[in-house]
Amino acid sequence: MTRWHLSARSSLLLLVPLLAAVAAVALSGQPAARAAQPETTQPQTTQPEANQPEATQPQIGEPAQTEQETEAAEEESELGARLYQRDCVFCHGADGRGTSRGQSLTEVGPAEAHYSITTGRMPIQAAGEERRRREVQYNAEEVDALIAHMRRFLAFEPEIPEVNIEEGKLSEGGEVFLAECAACHQWSGVGGALLGREAPTVLESTPTQIAEAIRAGPPGMPGYGEEVIDEEQLNSVVKYVLHLRDPQDRGGNGLWHLGPFAEGLISWVVGIGVLILAVLWIGERGTGEPVSEPPASEEAGAAS
Ligand code: HEC
Ligand code: HEC
Repeated sequence: MTRWHLSARSSLLLLVPLLAAVAAVALSGQPAARAAQPETTQPQTTQPEANQPEATQPQIGEPAQTEQETEAAEEESELGARLYQRDCVFCHGADGRGTSRGQSLTEVGPAEAHYSITTGRMPIQAAGEERRRREVQYNAEEVDALIAHMRRFLAFEPEIPEVNIEEGKLSEGGEVFLAECAACHQWSGVGGALLGREAPTVLESTPTQIAEAIRAGPPGMPGYGEEVIDEEQLNSVVKYVLHLRDPQDRGGNGLWHLGPFAEGLISWVVGIGVLILAVLWIGERGTGEPVSEPPASEEAGAAS
């Protein structure tokens, strides 16, 4: 009996500093990790985004300022013209007004053009080819150049949206997704054919592609303007869709998920600690009266 008490107490003594240490590590790890990666998004999000650096996208409307810029713009438009000529003209025509093989693109905005190219849906090899995601054959520079060239005839709107995942709220994104998107893409985002509506998975899309699909509404999907899904909600849905792909990673932002993780760990540790203490306390009281002498410890005591 004494022995049992001793071991209970000693394990208690061991547990308390252990729990404190784990909590301390979790707490100190948070700001350290925050400082370690300032403003960088996770590789997961940056990698596919490398395909589409809209940040470096020159504004076509603005005249190039310096000579260097003019040169760069000329190079880009040469590259863009060459690629468009090689891969698109056959079906969409030199002026983007379409042919018998492909639709006019003058009513299509930059967001949809960028979406089609970066998801590999365009170009297709033959009219009537199945519409689906494919491996993209252009690098980031080529995508930019193509879009820059196509802006000559594309509609102005919807523009390639800027996504700011950090500003999105997961719960708000979940609400919008369930209300607006789940009917076609399923609540889990895997897509499929629901009620005759066929939709692809959303779990392979980059943040920009998700936002582009929402704003532009590619074939088979409605487009959502700011009056239906405002900028904040857009950030939130994107965050939610990324969360669907990887629930461990809350929103595809390394900075963001450290906080809740550390908090979760602490509450877990504290919760388990309280439980253990309660069990020990109950155990100690319990052994006090009815089961006063466990035979095992008696035997062990006699043996020694
Ligand atoms: C073999 C014919 C063909 C070629 C080549 C082709 N397209 Fe298309 N494109 C189509 C057809 C047909 C559609 C109608 C929608 C569909 O069936 O996918 C279309 C639709 C589009 C659309 C609007 C609908 C959408 O969101 O996809 C864009 C933007 C587009 N094409 C861009 C391009 C670009 C850029 C290229 C060259 C890199 C290209 N296409 C090459 C046939 C073609
Ligand atoms: C009426 C059915 C429908 C609804 C509602 C709908 N979608 Fe779609 N969605 C589609 C279809 C069909 C496509 C495929 C379009 C194409 O071929 O380019 C698509 C494409 C997408 C893609 C691109 C997938 C890829 O290959 O990268 C994303 C992302 C997406 N949808 C997100 C959403 C979100 C977010 C919502 C809600 C705000 C939504 N969709 C609402 C039918 C729908």
